[in-house]
Formats: sequence, C-alpha cells, structure tokens
Amino acid sequence: MREQYRTTELTVADLAPEPIAQFSRWFKETAENPAIHEPNAMVVSTATPDGRPSSRTVLLKHYDGAGFVFFTNYSSRKGEELTANPHVSLLFPWHPLARQVIVTGRAVRTGRDETVAYFRTRPHGSQLGAWASRQSSVIASREELLARYEELETRYPEGEQVPVPPEWGGVRVVPDAIEFWQGHENRLHDRLRYVREDESWRVERLAP
Ligand SMILES: Cc1cc2nc3c(=O)[nH]c(=O)nc-3n(C[C@H](O)[C@H](O)[C@H](O)COP(=O)(O)O)c2cc1C
Repeated sequence: MREQYRTTELTVADLAPEPIAQFSRWFKETAENPAIHEPNAMVVSTATPDGRPSSRTVLLKHYDGAGFVFFTNYSSRKGEELTANPHVSLLFPWHPLARQVIVTGRAVRTGRDETVAYFRTRPHGSQLGAWASRQSSVIASREELLARYEELETRYPEGEQVPVPPEWGGVRVVPDAIEFWQGHENRLHDRLRYVREDESWRVERLAP
C-alpha cells in the first residue's frame, strides 16, 4: 500500500502571494485530472464544545477571499456542532496528485439571500430532497423517506417553485490557516502553510 510519489517540489517561491490564489491554482489542476472524480469533495470535521470530533464529506460550492462555502442542514449533527463550536477543519484529499489541502478556521452561516440564490440553481429533485428528511435524525425505514419524498413531489410537481427549507443553508469557513501538502519520495513531502496575521498571510514550512 506504500506509494512512491513522483512529483515536483513545492517551494515558497512557487506559492501565490495569498492562499486563495494558491488554492485556485491547485483546484484547477485537480479539476483537469480525470483520476479525481469529485475535485470539490472535502471532509469537514467539527467537534462538540467538549472536544468530541466528527467528520463527513460535503461538496465545496463556492470559494473566494471570504472563505469556503458548502450547503447543509443546520439541524444536522455538523450543523448543531458548528452552532455550539464554530471551530472547523476542511480536508481536500487529492490522492492521485499526491496532494492534500487542509483548512482550519471558523464557520459562519451565509446570508439568506446567498442560500436562496444557490437553492434556486439546484435540480428540482434535490430541492425536494432537502425537505425530505431532518438530516442526521434516526428514521424507521427507507420506505418512510420515500413516502415523504413522494408526498413532496405531489405537493410541488416539476415546474412549481419549491420553497427553501428554513433549516437548510450555507456555511462559510473563514480560514485562519491553509496548508498545501505535496507528497514526495522517501517521505520528504512539502508542507507549506499560510497563517493569517491580521490583514496578511505568513508562510511557514512544516516537517513532513
Ligand atoms: C461525495 C459526497 C458529497 C456530499 N455532499 C454533501 C453536501 O454538500 N452537503 C451535505 O449536507 N451532505 C453531503 N453529503 C452527505 C454527508 O457526508 C453526510 O452524510 C450528511 O451531511 C450528514 O452529516 P452529519 O450527520 O455528520 O451532519 C455528501 C456525501 C458524499 C459522499
């Protein structure tokens, strides 16, 4: 299971002046690589206020200087953990490129207007799906879920506007550090981390 990575070095001189521009370069390369099926899939880790962690995959829907945005149910496990403890970590596992990007920061909810604008771009079926269950709650059966979906289909047939569920919306992760990890042979990996310092970013190299 051990792979020797044949990759080019990542030096401080190669890095963009700020991490979102650097992320954008790597994200483009990832998106162009057919070996990576969902380049925008990322692992979101949250924790309860007493420090019990949990992780799951979500899709990155937007990023810019303000942060990284995904959409979810605010009453889900992750949603409730983030309400109680906004510290969050994101991990992009781009294994075929021997790369990972790790973001740490704080979660803030997007504005309702941003949520509504994104919801409107989703296919009708996934709009209904957002209503179909209270994410993370225990349910009795799959039939229960399907019955609820069918009920919603009758209520909001294709072409009818589906309202945005009140408990559904965007989460923006405002980064305080972003690490770019490039794997190399013999465990001599590059790890360059941008750390926020007021209005600018400091770059440091970490031991692999
Ligand atoms: C590839 C992939 C993408 C996913 N994207 C999302 C997403 O964008 N939003 C979301 O709420 N759940 C998404 N999920 C489901 C989550 O992994 C998770 O099951 C769900 O959000 C409930 O998580 P929680 O109970 O820890 O809150 C995705 C799962 C996979 C495998």
